[in-house]
Amino acid sequence: MHFNSKNYPSIAYFYAANHSSLHNLTIMANFTLNINGKQQQVDVDPATPMLWVLRDHLNLVGTKYGCGVAQCGACTIHLGDVAMRSCILPVSQVGNQPITTIEGLSENGDHPVQQAWLEHDVAQCGYCQAGQIMNAAALLKANPKPSDAEIEGAMNGNICRCATYVRIKAAIKTAANS
Ligand code: FES
Ligand code: FES
Repeated sequence: MHFNSKNYPSIAYFYAANHSSLHNLTIMANFTLNINGKQQQVDVDPATPMLWVLRDHLNLVGTKYGCGVAQCGACTIHLGDVAMRSCILPVSQVGNQPITTIEGLSENGDHPVQQAWLEHDVAQCGYCQAGQIMNAAALLKANPKPSDAEIEGAMNGNICRCATYVRIKAAIKTAANS
């Protein structure tokens, strides 16, 4: 199934319904975004969450939809160096700040966090993992040698329905020591 803003009946995507029902009232706007080091232009409703700009307009589908209300972390991207929930980040609030998605975290999938993820065979179904990796990478950028408690605190909001939490923590410790 192709996941997009139209096939999830989530609160965050009432914007999609509104967009449809108030079509004649919606004012589209052109935004130039810096995504993964490239300038990208989109013509969208300014209220559109970045999650759907990425997935529906730019075909960057590595960023996942989980809850749509900032509760699961599946949609985590970087705004500058900071981990952000793209499901609640309107495109109009991005401005000139660079965005990094899982596709742009490293050129060849060899960011230390990605290497550690492979070493520990972290992923199970994989659905949450892009968000987990992006959150972990932002943590290590801000705090290269986090304590166990700091790892747990930083990763606390990223939900994994497959419960890969033990391997996630081990991988972050490996990445921190690499
Ligand atoms: S989809 Fe954004 S936090 Fe769940
Ligand atoms: S690996 Fe399945 S949800 Fe996390």
